Amino acid sequence: MADIIYFDNSATTKVYPEVMNEMNRIYSSVFGNPSSLHRLGNEAEKILTESREIIAETLRVSPNEIFFTSGGTESNNWAIKGIARANKKRGKHIITSAAEHPSVLECFNYLISEGFSAEISGTDQSGLLDIESFIEKINDDTVLASFILVNNETGAIQKAEELIAAIRAKNKKTAIHIDAVQAYGKIPLNLKKLDADIVSISAHKIHGPKGCGALYIKENTRIIPILHGGGQENKYRSGTENVPAIWGFATAAKIIHENIEINRNKVKRLKSIVISELDKYFGSGGYFVNSPEDSYEGILNISFPNVKAQVLMQHLEAESIIVSTGSACSSRKNVQSHVLTAMNLPRERTEGAIRISFSGMNTEDEALRFTEALKSIVPKIRYR
Ligand SMILES: Cc1ncc(COP(=O)(O)O)c(C=O)c1O
Repeated sequence: MADIIYFDNSATTKVYPEVMNEMNRIYSSVFGNPSSLHRLGNEAEKILTESREIIAETLRVSPNEIFFTSGGTESNNWAIKGIARANKKRGKHIITSAAEHPSVLECFNYLISEGFSAEISGTDQSGLLDIESFIEKINDDTVLASFILVNNETGAIQKAEELIAAIRAKNKKTAIHIDAVQAYGKIPLNLKKLDADIVSISAHKIHGPKGCGALYIKENTRIIPILHGGGQENKYRSGTENVPAIWGFATAAKIIHENIEINRNKVKRLKSIVISELDKYFGSGGYFVNSPEDSYEGILNISFPNVKAQVLMQHLEAESIIVSTGSACSSRKNVQSHVLTAMNLPRERTEGAIRISFSGMNTEDEALRFTEALKSIVPKIRYR
């Protein structure tokens, strides 16, 4: 079988070899429980402290504002439920966008059962929040506003600074949560400048291990835990920390932040190769780019008229090329993408949409092999 071309880096990434080595080293040599008071515990605690410092440094925040979790889903759950519940005496209105990851949208749905009024604001045709109508919906009872920074299906980058300033101007008590799972390590993020209160990140999107992530919580933010027990993570997130994975996360974070510009230029080049080849072969109207202009270049969402995404994906897989039909969570359910639907795209574009997501590990040769495969597959599988 030919080498696999892996273009599904938004679903997950391949672990960096250095991360594997470092995790193996910690698994075999630093196996103590970081809460234990003996020497082995202290060694593990040191690894945790260093990891926290590394992650904090990449976000330009203080280490005591970083809390390790089991990944982006937990971080989002904690941020949303923790903020809403902690502030419910002040107000019960929470707001987000229709283009969020399910780990945000389902928390909003769930909180309705606890008596919250959860508002889902629409997006424009490029998948960006309509700032004016979002702000209009914020009122004195709004305790939380949550939005995704880089969309996992289209790469759309929210105008975060503008949005945050407008939210603050409308209600300065509204806590602001950002789902930065697809942004972290891909575009520069300076949380000292970006005035958010809580930010979710995840290790496996940056060539780190799965099941590991973090939540940045700005000092003095009113939030309560969702996991209770031994009081780890400064009493905010109980459960013995996964020290090898956390160290793997920190190692990956260091590597990816040292290469952020190099990787971004690389994925930009891959995207432009794919687009120029498709333009040449399929021409205008022969295919659609669903990712907006100025989106993060590592994610490219496209569709072909009269082609079912699932069928295209299977044909590509037969040629050892891996892409996806949307977010990894929804792609098995065979439903229309809620993100593309929120963008009001016609059905022919949503049903044929595939997501190509690059990483710094991909090559120009892979991008060319991919477009050659599309040129031969697409004409064969058109149903009209
Ligand atoms: C934008 C976004 N948020 C949250 C998550 C969930 O992260 P995790 O897989 O670490 O639970 C993902 C994963 O696909 C994502 O893309």
